Amino acid sequence: MKAVILAAGKATRLRPVTLTMPKALVPVANKTLIGYAIDVLKAAGFQDIGIVVNDLDSPIPQTLAEGASMGVNLSYIVQEEQKGLAHAVGLCQDFVGTDPFCVFLGDNIFQDKMGPMFANFVGSGAESAIALGEVSDPSRFGIAELHPDGAIQRVVEKPKEPKSNLAIAGVYLFRPSIFDAISRIKPSWRNELEITDAIQTLVNDGGRVDSYILKGWWIDAGKPDAIILANQLVLEELPYTPAIEDKDLILGKSEVSHRVILGKNSQVVDSVIRGPVIIGDNTIVKNSYVGPYTSIGDNVVIEGSEIEASIVMRNCVIRNVPGRIDSSLLADNTQVVAGARMPATHRFVLAENTFVQL
Ligand code: G1P
Repeated sequence: MKAVILAAGKATRLRPVTLTMPKALVPVANKTLIGYAIDVLKAAGFQDIGIVVNDLDSPIPQTLAEGASMGVNLSYIVQEEQKGLAHAVGLCQDFVGTDPFCVFLGDNIFQDKMGPMFANFVGSGAESAIALGEVSDPSRFGIAELHPDGAIQRVVEKPKEPKSNLAIAGVYLFRPSIFDAISRIKPSWRNELEITDAIQTLVNDGGRVDSYILKGWWIDAGKPDAIILANQLVLEELPYTPAIEDKDLILGKSEVSHRVILGKNSQVVDSVIRGPVIIGDNTIVKNSYVGPYTSIGDNVVIEGSEIEASIVMRNCVIRNVPGRIDSSLLADNTQVVAGARMPATHRFVLAENTFVQL
Protein backbone atom coordinates (compact mmCIF):
# COMPACT_ATOMS: atom_id res chain seq x y z
CA MET A 1 0.00 0.00 0.00
CA LYS A 2 1.38 3.40 -0.98
CA ALA A 3 0.75 6.84 0.45
CA VAL A 4 0.70 10.30 -1.05
CA ILE A 5 1.32 13.53 0.81
CA LEU A 6 -0.23 16.63 -0.74
CA ALA A 7 2.19 19.54 -0.45
CA ALA A 8 1.65 21.63 -3.58
CA GLY A 9 -0.61 24.32 -2.09
CA LYS A 10 0.25 28.01 -2.33
CA ALA A 11 0.05 28.46 1.46
CA THR A 12 -1.11 32.06 1.10
CA ARG A 13 -2.37 32.13 4.71
CA LEU A 14 1.18 31.63 5.93
CA ARG A 15 2.74 34.45 3.96
CA PRO A 16 5.24 35.99 4.19
CA VAL A 17 6.97 32.91 5.59
CA THR A 18 5.87 30.79 2.63
CA LEU A 19 6.97 33.27 -0.02
CA THR A 20 10.35 31.58 0.07
CA MET A 21 9.73 28.37 2.03
CA PRO A 22 7.04 25.77 1.25
CA LYS A 23 4.70 25.20 4.16
CA ALA A 24 5.75 21.54 4.32
CA LEU A 25 9.25 22.63 5.35
CA VAL A 26 8.20 25.01 8.13
CA PRO A 27 9.78 23.67 11.32
CA VAL A 28 7.75 22.68 14.36
CA ALA A 29 10.01 21.80 17.30
CA ASN A 30 12.89 21.89 14.79
CA LYS A 31 11.39 19.21 12.53
CA THR A 32 9.60 19.98 9.27
CA LEU A 33 5.82 19.72 9.14
CA ILE A 34 6.07 17.09 6.40
CA GLY A 35 8.50 15.16 8.61
CA TYR A 36 5.63 14.55 11.07
CA ALA A 37 3.43 13.22 8.25
CA ILE A 38 6.21 10.89 7.08
CA ASP A 39 6.71 9.65 10.67
CA VAL A 40 3.02 8.73 11.02
CA LEU A 41 3.02 6.95 7.65
CA LYS A 42 6.25 5.11 8.41
CA ALA A 43 4.92 3.95 11.78
CA ALA A 44 1.82 2.62 9.97
CA GLY A 45 4.06 0.57 7.65
CA PHE A 46 4.09 2.78 4.53
CA GLN A 47 7.44 2.64 2.74
CA ASP A 48 6.66 4.11 -0.67
CA ILE A 49 5.43 7.67 -0.37
CA GLY A 50 4.66 10.08 -3.20
CA ILE A 51 4.77 13.79 -2.49
CA VAL A 52 2.71 16.11 -4.66
CA VAL A 53 4.71 19.31 -5.20
CA ASN A 54 4.11 22.29 -7.48
CA ASP A 55 7.57 22.12 -9.04
CA LEU A 56 10.38 19.55 -9.09
CA ASP A 57 12.78 22.41 -8.36
CA SER A 58 10.88 23.08 -5.14
CA PRO A 59 12.91 23.01 -1.91
CA ILE A 60 10.90 19.92 -0.88
CA PRO A 61 12.63 17.44 -3.24
CA GLN A 62 15.88 19.33 -2.75
CA THR A 63 15.65 18.81 1.01
CA LEU A 64 14.08 15.36 1.30
CA ALA A 65 15.53 13.81 -1.89
CA GLU A 66 14.68 10.12 -2.13
CA GLY A 67 13.95 9.84 1.58
CA ALA A 68 17.01 7.79 2.59
CA SER A 69 17.64 9.92 5.69
CA MET A 70 14.07 9.26 6.83
CA GLY A 71 14.06 5.55 6.00
CA VAL A 72 11.35 5.72 3.29
CA ASN A 73 11.28 5.79 -0.52
CA LEU A 74 10.04 9.14 -1.73
CA SER A 75 8.80 9.94 -5.25
CA TYR A 76 7.53 13.28 -6.50
CA ILE A 77 4.41 14.05 -8.50
CA VAL A 78 4.01 17.54 -9.96
CA GLN A 79 0.75 19.48 -9.74
CA GLU A 80 1.48 22.53 -11.86
CA GLU A 81 -1.81 24.28 -11.24
CA GLN A 82 -3.54 24.23 -7.88
CA LYS A 83 -6.94 22.98 -8.94
CA GLY A 84 -7.89 21.38 -5.64
CA LEU A 85 -7.17 18.33 -3.51
CA ALA A 86 -9.17 15.96 -5.75
CA HIS A 87 -7.19 17.16 -8.76
CA ALA A 88 -3.95 16.47 -6.85
CA VAL A 89 -5.15 12.97 -5.89
CA GLY A 90 -6.16 12.29 -9.50
CA LEU A 91 -2.59 12.97 -10.62
CA CYS A 92 -1.40 10.14 -8.35
CA GLN A 93 -3.23 7.33 -10.17
CA ASP A 94 -0.14 5.95 -11.94
CA PHE A 95 1.88 6.16 -8.76
CA VAL A 96 -0.59 4.27 -6.55
CA GLY A 97 -1.64 1.69 -9.16
CA THR A 98 -4.53 -0.63 -8.30
CA ASP A 99 -4.00 -1.03 -4.54
CA PRO A 100 -5.69 0.83 -1.69
CA PHE A 101 -3.74 3.93 -0.72
CA CYS A 102 -3.49 6.75 1.81
CA VAL A 103 -3.74 10.49 1.17
CA PHE A 104 -2.23 12.72 3.83
CA LEU A 105 -2.44 16.53 3.80
CA GLY A 106 1.11 17.71 4.41
CA ASP A 107 0.13 20.66 6.61
CA ASN A 108 -1.86 18.70 9.18
CA ILE A 109 -0.18 17.54 12.36
CA PHE A 110 -1.60 14.98 14.77
CA GLN A 111 -1.08 13.64 18.26
CA ASP A 112 -2.90 10.43 17.28
CA LYS A 113 -0.84 8.03 15.13
CA MET A 114 -4.12 6.52 13.80
CA GLY A 115 -2.81 2.93 13.90
CA PRO A 116 -6.26 1.23 14.02
CA MET A 117 -7.53 3.25 11.06
CA PHE A 118 -4.61 2.14 8.87
CA ALA A 119 -4.69 -1.45 10.11
CA ASN A 120 -8.43 -2.02 9.55
CA PHE A 121 -8.96 -0.51 6.12
CA VAL A 122 -7.67 -3.10 3.65
CA GLY A 123 -9.89 -5.90 5.00
CA SER A 124 -12.85 -3.64 5.79
CA GLY A 125 -14.69 -3.67 2.48
CA ALA A 126 -15.22 0.09 2.78
CA GLU A 127 -14.49 2.24 -0.27
CA SER A 128 -12.81 4.83 1.91
CA ALA A 129 -12.05 5.73 5.51
CA ILE A 130 -11.45 9.25 6.76
CA ALA A 131 -10.08 10.70 9.97
CA LEU A 132 -12.37 13.17 11.74
CA GLY A 133 -11.62 15.61 14.52
CA GLU A 134 -13.95 17.74 16.62
CA VAL A 135 -13.63 21.46 15.93
CA SER A 136 -15.22 24.60 17.32
CA ASP A 137 -15.35 26.41 13.95
CA PRO A 138 -16.84 23.83 11.53
CA SER A 139 -17.48 26.33 8.71
CA ARG A 140 -13.72 26.34 8.01
CA PHE A 141 -13.51 22.61 7.22
CA GLY A 142 -15.03 19.71 5.36
CA ILE A 143 -17.71 18.47 7.76
CA ALA A 144 -19.06 14.93 8.16
CA GLU A 145 -22.45 13.65 9.28
CA LEU A 146 -22.40 10.06 10.49
CA HIS A 147 -24.80 7.12 10.61
CA PRO A 148 -25.16 5.60 14.11
CA ASP A 149 -22.60 2.88 13.18
CA GLY A 150 -19.98 5.53 12.35
CA ALA A 151 -20.20 5.25 8.56
CA ILE A 152 -20.34 8.56 6.70
CA GLN A 153 -23.82 9.72 5.72
CA ARG A 154 -22.81 13.04 4.17
CA VAL A 155 -19.74 15.24 3.80
CA VAL A 156 -19.93 18.94 2.94
CA GLU A 157 -17.02 21.27 2.24
CA LYS A 158 -17.07 24.40 4.42
CA PRO A 159 -20.82 24.38 5.14
CA LYS A 160 -22.45 27.70 6.03
CA GLU A 161 -24.80 25.86 8.39
CA PRO A 162 -22.80 22.91 9.69
CA LYS A 163 -24.80 19.88 10.82
CA SER A 164 -21.95 18.53 12.97
CA ASN A 165 -18.64 19.61 14.47
CA LEU A 166 -16.72 16.63 13.05
CA ALA A 167 -14.18 17.98 10.59
CA ILE A 168 -12.36 16.02 7.90
CA ALA A 169 -8.87 16.02 9.30
CA GLY A 170 -6.61 15.50 6.32
CA VAL A 171 -5.95 11.73 6.38
CA TYR A 172 -7.93 9.64 3.89
CA LEU A 173 -7.78 5.99 2.83
CA PHE A 174 -9.06 5.15 -0.63
CA ARG A 175 -9.37 2.37 -3.18
CA PRO A 176 -8.94 3.04 -6.91
CA SER A 177 -12.71 3.72 -7.07
CA ILE A 178 -11.88 7.26 -5.95
CA PHE A 179 -10.35 8.02 -9.37
CA ASP A 180 -13.64 7.38 -11.14
CA ALA A 181 -15.43 9.51 -8.52
CA ILE A 182 -12.93 12.33 -9.09
CA SER A 183 -13.55 12.20 -12.84
CA ARG A 184 -17.26 12.86 -12.22
CA ILE A 185 -17.12 15.89 -9.86
CA LYS A 186 -17.30 19.56 -10.87
CA PRO A 187 -15.29 22.47 -9.46
CA SER A 188 -16.70 24.00 -6.27
CA TRP A 189 -17.56 27.63 -5.49
CA ARG A 190 -13.85 28.22 -4.83
CA ASN A 191 -13.14 26.75 -8.28
CA GLU A 192 -11.40 23.69 -6.88
CA LEU A 193 -12.05 19.98 -7.37
CA GLU A 194 -12.85 19.08 -3.76
CA ILE A 195 -11.88 15.67 -2.40
CA THR A 196 -14.91 16.07 -0.11
CA ASP A 197 -17.17 16.02 -3.21
CA ALA A 198 -15.43 12.89 -4.53
CA ILE A 199 -16.04 11.17 -1.17
CA GLN A 200 -19.71 12.18 -1.31
CA THR A 201 -19.82 10.61 -4.80
CA LEU A 202 -18.57 7.30 -3.30
CA VAL A 203 -21.39 7.50 -0.73
CA ASN A 204 -23.97 8.37 -3.43
CA ASP A 205 -22.77 5.36 -5.43
CA GLY A 206 -23.67 3.15 -2.44
CA GLY A 207 -20.10 2.62 -1.17
CA ARG A 208 -19.37 2.59 2.54
CA VAL A 209 -17.04 5.29 3.88
CA ASP A 210 -15.80 4.60 7.40
CA SER A 211 -14.83 7.23 9.91
CA TYR A 212 -12.08 7.27 12.50
CA ILE A 213 -12.46 9.79 15.32
CA LEU A 214 -9.11 11.24 16.29
CA LYS A 215 -7.86 11.10 19.85
CA GLY A 216 -5.89 14.02 21.22
CA TRP A 217 -5.01 17.19 19.40
CA TRP A 218 -4.94 17.82 15.66
CA ILE A 219 -3.82 21.08 14.03
CA ASP A 220 -4.40 22.26 10.47
CA ALA A 221 -1.18 24.26 10.53
CA GLY A 222 -2.10 26.70 7.79
CA LYS A 223 -1.66 29.97 9.66
CA PRO A 224 1.08 31.43 11.87
CA ASP A 225 -1.00 31.04 15.05
CA ALA A 226 -1.67 27.39 14.24
CA ILE A 227 2.04 26.71 13.62
CA ILE A 228 2.92 28.34 16.94
CA LEU A 229 0.24 26.29 18.70
CA ALA A 230 1.48 23.08 17.04
CA ASN A 231 4.98 23.95 18.26
CA GLN A 232 3.68 24.23 21.82
CA LEU A 233 1.75 20.97 21.62
CA VAL A 234 4.73 19.05 20.23
CA LEU A 235 7.14 20.52 22.80
CA GLU A 236 4.62 19.66 25.52
CA GLU A 237 5.28 16.01 24.66
CA LEU A 238 9.06 16.19 25.02
CA PRO A 239 9.95 13.43 27.46
CA TYR A 240 11.65 14.35 30.72
CA THR A 241 15.37 14.96 30.41
CA PRO A 242 17.41 16.25 33.34
CA ALA A 243 18.92 19.73 33.32
CA ILE A 244 22.11 19.87 31.22
CA GLU A 245 25.09 20.61 33.42
CA ASP A 246 27.95 20.38 30.92
CA LYS A 247 30.35 23.18 31.83
CA ASP A 248 31.48 23.57 28.22
CA LEU A 249 27.92 24.25 27.04
CA ILE A 250 26.31 26.04 29.98
CA LEU A 251 28.54 28.94 30.97
CA GLY A 252 28.60 31.79 33.48
CA LYS A 253 25.56 32.46 35.64
CA SER A 254 23.16 30.33 33.65
CA GLU A 255 20.12 28.44 34.83
CA VAL A 256 18.88 25.73 32.47
CA SER A 257 15.87 23.66 33.48
CA HIS A 258 14.99 20.06 32.63
CA ARG A 259 13.40 19.34 29.21
CA VAL A 260 15.83 21.53 27.29
CA ILE A 261 17.42 20.01 24.18
CA LEU A 262 20.63 21.68 23.09
CA GLY A 263 22.13 20.89 19.65
CA LYS A 264 25.78 20.38 18.72
CA ASN A 265 28.20 23.27 19.36
CA SER A 266 25.49 25.42 20.93
CA GLN A 267 26.14 27.38 24.09
CA VAL A 268 24.17 29.08 26.83
CA VAL A 269 25.98 31.98 28.47
CA ASP A 270 24.66 33.90 31.49
CA SER A 271 21.10 33.01 30.52
CA VAL A 272 17.96 31.39 31.88
CA ILE A 273 16.26 28.67 29.82
CA ARG A 274 13.01 27.16 31.02
CA GLY A 275 11.84 24.09 29.10
CA PRO A 276 10.28 22.64 27.19
CA VAL A 277 12.68 24.24 24.75
CA ILE A 278 14.60 22.89 21.76
CA ILE A 279 17.72 24.60 20.42
CA GLY A 280 19.49 23.55 17.20
CA ASP A 281 23.20 23.38 16.36
CA ASN A 282 25.76 26.22 16.48
CA THR A 283 23.41 28.55 18.33
CA ILE A 284 24.37 30.95 21.11
CA VAL A 285 22.05 32.24 23.82
CA LYS A 286 23.73 35.00 25.81
CA ASN A 287 22.42 37.29 28.59
CA SER A 288 18.94 36.19 27.67
CA TYR A 289 15.81 34.41 28.82
CA VAL A 290 14.31 31.64 26.70
CA GLY A 291 10.93 30.60 28.07
CA PRO A 292 8.74 27.52 27.63
CA TYR A 293 7.53 26.33 24.23
CA THR A 294 10.31 27.93 22.23
CA SER A 295 12.06 26.27 19.28
CA ILE A 296 15.29 27.80 18.07
CA GLY A 297 16.99 26.59 14.88
CA ASP A 298 20.65 26.26 13.83
CA ASN A 299 23.13 29.15 13.69
CA VAL A 300 21.04 31.54 15.75
CA VAL A 301 22.29 34.28 18.09
CA ILE A 302 20.01 35.44 20.91
CA GLU A 303 21.63 38.11 23.02
CA GLY A 304 20.27 40.49 25.66
CA SER A 305 16.68 39.47 24.90
CA GLU A 306 13.70 37.54 26.21
CA ILE A 307 11.61 35.15 24.16
CA GLU A 308 9.01 32.48 24.79
CA ALA A 309 6.37 30.34 23.02
CA SER A 310 7.96 31.18 19.66
CA ILE A 311 9.68 29.63 16.65
CA VAL A 312 12.99 31.04 15.51
CA MET A 313 14.25 29.35 12.35
CA ARG A 314 17.84 29.16 11.04
CA ASN A 315 20.48 31.91 10.92
CA CYS A 316 18.50 34.48 12.91
CA VAL A 317 19.80 37.23 15.17
CA ILE A 318 17.82 38.66 18.10
CA ARG A 319 19.82 41.24 19.98
CA ASN A 320 18.98 43.66 22.81
CA VAL A 321 15.27 43.63 22.11
CA PRO A 322 13.40 45.41 24.90
CA GLY A 323 10.38 43.63 26.39
CA ARG A 324 9.63 39.99 25.75
CA ILE A 325 9.10 38.41 22.33
CA ASP A 326 6.09 36.13 22.60
CA SER A 327 4.12 33.86 20.21
CA SER A 328 6.27 34.87 17.26
CA LEU A 329 7.44 33.18 14.10
CA LEU A 330 10.78 34.26 12.66
CA ALA A 331 11.74 32.71 9.32
CA ASP A 332 15.30 31.95 8.17
CA ASN A 333 17.83 34.82 8.17
CA THR A 334 15.60 37.16 10.15
CA GLN A 335 17.20 39.83 12.31
CA VAL A 336 15.50 41.68 15.15
CA VAL A 337 17.86 44.09 16.84
CA ALA A 338 17.37 47.02 19.16
CA GLY A 339 17.54 50.51 17.74
CA ALA A 340 15.42 52.71 19.96
CA ARG A 341 12.89 52.35 22.76
CA MET A 342 9.76 50.29 22.16
CA PRO A 343 6.66 49.30 24.13
CA ALA A 344 7.25 46.29 26.31
CA THR A 345 5.78 43.57 24.10
CA HIS A 346 6.50 42.50 20.56
CA ARG A 347 4.91 40.16 18.07
CA PHE A 348 6.33 39.33 14.64
CA VAL A 349 5.68 37.22 11.59
CA LEU A 350 8.73 37.82 9.45
CA ALA A 351 9.86 36.56 6.05
CA GLU A 352 13.29 35.28 5.19
CA ASN A 353 15.99 37.95 5.09
CA THR A 354 13.77 40.46 6.82
CA PHE A 355 15.59 42.97 8.99
CA VAL A 356 13.70 44.77 11.77
CA GLN A 357 15.35 47.51 13.79
CA LEU A 358 13.58 48.57 16.96
C1 G1P B 1 -8.93 21.02 3.30
C2 G1P B 1 -10.14 20.15 2.96
C3 G1P B 1 -11.11 20.12 4.14
C4 G1P B 1 -10.40 19.65 5.39
C5 G1P B 1 -9.15 20.51 5.64
C6 G1P B 1 -8.33 19.90 6.78
O1 G1P B 1 -9.35 22.36 3.45
O2 G1P B 1 -10.76 20.68 1.80
O3 G1P B 1 -12.17 19.25 3.85
O4 G1P B 1 -11.27 19.73 6.49
O5 G1P B 1 -8.30 20.55 4.49
O6 G1P B 1 -7.15 20.63 7.01
P1 G1P B 1 -8.42 23.62 2.99
O7 G1P B 1 -7.18 23.55 3.84
O8 G1P B 1 -8.14 23.43 1.53
O9 G1P B 1 -9.24 24.83 3.27
